[in-house]
Amino acid sequence: MKVRLKSGTLNYLDQGNGPAVLLIHAFPLNHTMWQPQVAVLASRFRVIAPDIRGFGESLPPAPWTIEEMCDELAEFLDKLNVKTCALAGVSMGGYIGLPFYLKYPDRVRQIILANTRARADNDAEKAARTEMIAALEQQGAGILPDRMLPRLLKPNPSPEVVHLVRGIMANVSASAAIYAVMAMRDRPDSTSLLHRVKSPALVVAGEHDVITNINECRSIAEAIPGAQFALISNAGHLSNLENPDEFNRALMGFLL
Ligand code: MLT
Repeated sequence: MKVRLKSGTLNYLDQGNGPAVLLIHAFPLNHTMWQPQVAVLASRFRVIAPDIRGFGESLPPAPWTIEEMCDELAEFLDKLNVKTCALAGVSMGGYIGLPFYLKYPDRVRQIILANTRARADNDAEKAARTEMIAALEQQGAGILPDRMLPRLLKPNPSPEVVHLVRGIMANVSASAAIYAVMAMRDRPDSTSLLHRVKSPALVVAGEHDVITNINECRSIAEAIPGAQFALISNAGHLSNLENPDEFNRALMGFLL
């Protein structure tokens, strides 16, 4: 479905009835990465999964900051008449989801932060982002699969998941990727604000995640009062895709 926002057209999936669950995807993907969760969630909830600006069919790509994206998602929820939601973000989805909670705490009933960080990038990570932006400018989005797949997925990933993720990446424009890498590089550090999360929280880590490691995820759970922690076995960074059964059990167990 499509909705007109101040920044352009936002494409999203809207399926099922019940309390709203907002799903925010990872980089450089789109809402279809939530495929293994949608049917399960939609039996009990209204599942809302947008394509972040420039990704999927949300157009046009344009620069954004994390704070602007939080405001854009609030505008999006307003358009859909959704006052409160459970919010789940994987990786970049968490980089947006946690600041969204901190800015709009009354809109989030429950929060799920999967394979993500609360902290900002360190200097080396920022430099790697800047190098990535230059490579995207010079060589285009075709560099993404080789650069990202080995980091997003566990060693010896399932051919089906590789196929799905490659397929999503094949449609990413260089400009959408560049703007997202800039937003991630310049994202705020929310570590010292984690104690302000008062809604029930679930923090998810992947056993073989090389982007956001288990200890980093665990320390987010430890800093949020009463947060639950789930370690998804046999999964890398995209834990919802690599071990959907375990991910869905943790997700539904938390939400219900
Ligand atoms: C993501 O999976 O959203 C990104 O790869 C995270 C990152 O680059 O920090």
